[in-house]
Amino acid sequence: MPQDVALGIDVGTSALKGVLVAADGSVVATASADYPLSTPQPGWSEQDPALWWDACGRVCRRLVETPGVTVVAVGLSGQMHGSVFLDRSGAPLRPALLWNDARTGAECAEIERRVGADRLLAITGNRASAGFQAPKILWLRAHEPEQAAQIAKILVPKDFVRLRLTGALATDPSDASGTLLADLARRRYSEELLAACEIPRSWLPEIMESAAITGRVCADGAAHSGLHVGVPVVGGAGDNACAAVGAGVIAAGSGVCSLGTSGTVFVHATRPLIDPEGGLNGFCAATPDGWHVMGVVLSAGGALRWYRDSFEPGSGFDALLDQAASVAPGADGVAFLPYLAGERSPHLDPSARAAWVGLSLAHDRRHMVRAVVEGIGFALTDCLDRMRALGAAPPALVLVGGGASSRIWREILAAQLDLALELRVAQEGPALGAALLAGVGVGLWPTLEAATARAVPRVGERVEPDPDLAARYRTLKPLWRALYPALRVARDPR
Ligand code: XUL
Repeated sequence: MPQDVALGIDVGTSALKGVLVAADGSVVATASADYPLSTPQPGWSEQDPALWWDACGRVCRRLVETPGVTVVAVGLSGQMHGSVFLDRSGAPLRPALLWNDARTGAECAEIERRVGADRLLAITGNRASAGFQAPKILWLRAHEPEQAAQIAKILVPKDFVRLRLTGALATDPSDASGTLLADLARRRYSEELLAACEIPRSWLPEIMESAAITGRVCADGAAHSGLHVGVPVVGGAGDNACAAVGAGVIAAGSGVCSLGTSGTVFVHATRPLIDPEGGLNGFCAATPDGWHVMGVVLSAGGALRWYRDSFEPGSGFDALLDQAASVAPGADGVAFLPYLAGERSPHLDPSARAAWVGLSLAHDRRHMVRAVVEGIGFALTDCLDRMRALGAAPPALVLVGGGASSRIWREILAAQLDLALELRVAQEGPALGAALLAGVGVGLWPTLEAATARAVPRVGERVEPDPDLAARYRTLKPLWRALYPALRVARDPR
């Protein structure tokens, strides 16, 4: 007799990942398919939505072939904020603009001018960030009016996959709160913001809670994926909200740090938390009565990947981190700012740029890579310190994402954050959270608490900050922090 499993799908920036979870909480199978990112101009970041749909087909087909399982529910997660502009027939009008696309600085300023930065922050929990959907829509109108004239719908990547899989148009509160068009506390679109940005409500999908059934696999979706026609697909959530569920972070005050392409520090709350300075993001969580406050470092693992691809192509990440470990903390005076795609938190600055500072003839690649790793950690520390200032810092963070698998990186990061980091025994990330939401949606588990209690792997390791290393980084932190304002003055001397 086949066992019922929930399928979680994460439409990531570099790959689509799928995971099957059984009612006893065990991970039965995983699969993933990579795809490229396109950077047609500096600061631009795009992807062809067909890549996600193709990867979804390949991943689902591999997973449904797992012997002895029946997929009874699907949950979707994915990179937040990306904008897929669809025409009346549901065809993309151009490649999607992604979350780390920084082209919309002028449009962000325009939105804050129209609405007022304080009012925008009070309604949405956010300042206007270049990656969000609203400024992307204004950009398309200004720069590609022919495409803009044909817009019928705008979807984030996971909701585009939902449309192809089910024919249904829907999103969830976490991704809706990442549009910059939603009322954070009420978990619905804001008429005031839609009017200010001249965006018709009809362009946006309905918002349904993360465990609600939004549609069922349609005939075309089934033919492409190998899933059965009629399998329910739940709302799911953006990748950070789903990663939190997958890490068991669904209680107030618990937190997660993710070291993926972007890096985040995330704390769950039972009311909307807004950073009065707008340096952190406030979004809805995947629980109906949950919110989170989050700092986003746009280039975290992405900065290390860029270093590898640019300077040591073919090298493995472990080899790079070994090189980093061969140099003393502080990289003998070399520092790196990771703002390769501008920055979101706490400096809301799409024009921020990366830099190595302090190089001499005595330095080599080992110092440069150590500085990259430390620069990413300092940027995450900037976010955590902002949470500390708000009184919202968690007592420990669950560490997830690709970077979590490196012992060297974990130790450096724990010392920089000056906080204990917990690892889970297995790391399935946002796809696991999406699978748990799907299972709750069809009654495989009665509640999300029951689902996480079953499925979230135990604490595998707790990394306490090394006191000496933490003290060293406390000394280095103000020096590193002084670099961004200094380089901003060099860029824009006004
Ligand atoms: C969150 C954000 C990123 C993406 C990465 O606001 O922009 O973390 O979700 O996929």
